[in-house]
Amino acid sequence: MNAGKNLRLGVNIDHVATVRNARGSSYPDPVRAALISQEAGADGITAHLREDRRHIVDQDIASIIEAINIPLNFEMAATDEMQKIALNHTPHAVCIVPEKREERTTEGGLDVVKDEYNLAQYITPLREKGCRVSIFLAADEKQIRAASRIGAQVVELHTGAYCDLHYEKKFEERNAELSRLTEMASLAHSLGLEVHAGHGLTFETVSPIAELPEVVELNIGHFLIGESIFLGLREAIIKMRELMDKARL
Ligand code: PXP
Repeated sequence: MNAGKNLRLGVNIDHVATVRNARGSSYPDPVRAALISQEAGADGITAHLREDRRHIVDQDIASIIEAINIPLNFEMAATDEMQKIALNHTPHAVCIVPEKREERTTEGGLDVVKDEYNLAQYITPLREKGCRVSIFLAADEKQIRAASRIGAQVVELHTGAYCDLHYEKKFEERNAELSRLTEMASLAHSLGLEVHAGHGLTFETVSPIAELPEVVELNIGHFLIGESIFLGLREAIIKMRELMDKARL
């Protein structure tokens, strides 16, 4: 089906729920989006259950897991409440992200260095239950080394800064960030971590990230859901896959 199967696409469906919640009704249904994504070639579904439940809500997690037959990557903050929910559902993967109530989206990566001991304790039961634990990080050597020390299996590199710099047309700074991402993907891989990437990726920005040989999964949401207004979700995913596969070749 997908030529570049060594690079997986996780489709983040949070913003289908954002639209649904704007009306307080049950439409559009993120489960339907998950099923269309699966059918269109997504290798996984990603959903972020935020503390304030601004998009995905608790019931969505159970419904998505029940409906799909590809893995769910459950994004969550490192809180007791989320750990309990994750242990209850045991999704294929959990991705630990920083979360601030006032932010519009996940700003920056987790500070593992600051909270190394607690995070190590926090992820242990998740790993023991069989969830693959990923940590969302900026391209920062200290953070990557700390993620490795706490026993995470995966790091997801935050591509938001690279994408923002691209659209701000600060190409020199964008290229410097791309170099950092390149180096950090390689470092993480050398430490035995599986490397993912995501945040802010679009048709225009995906290729240089998809080219990084150590990166095995991209998680993309906002742009795909936005683009589905114009192209349809299926077409948007197919086009993204084509760009990823082409970059990989
Ligand atoms: N990866 C992580 C860890 C995220 O928190 C998000 C946003 O929820 C994404 C990827 C996807 O980012 P975007 O919606 O900008 O594509």
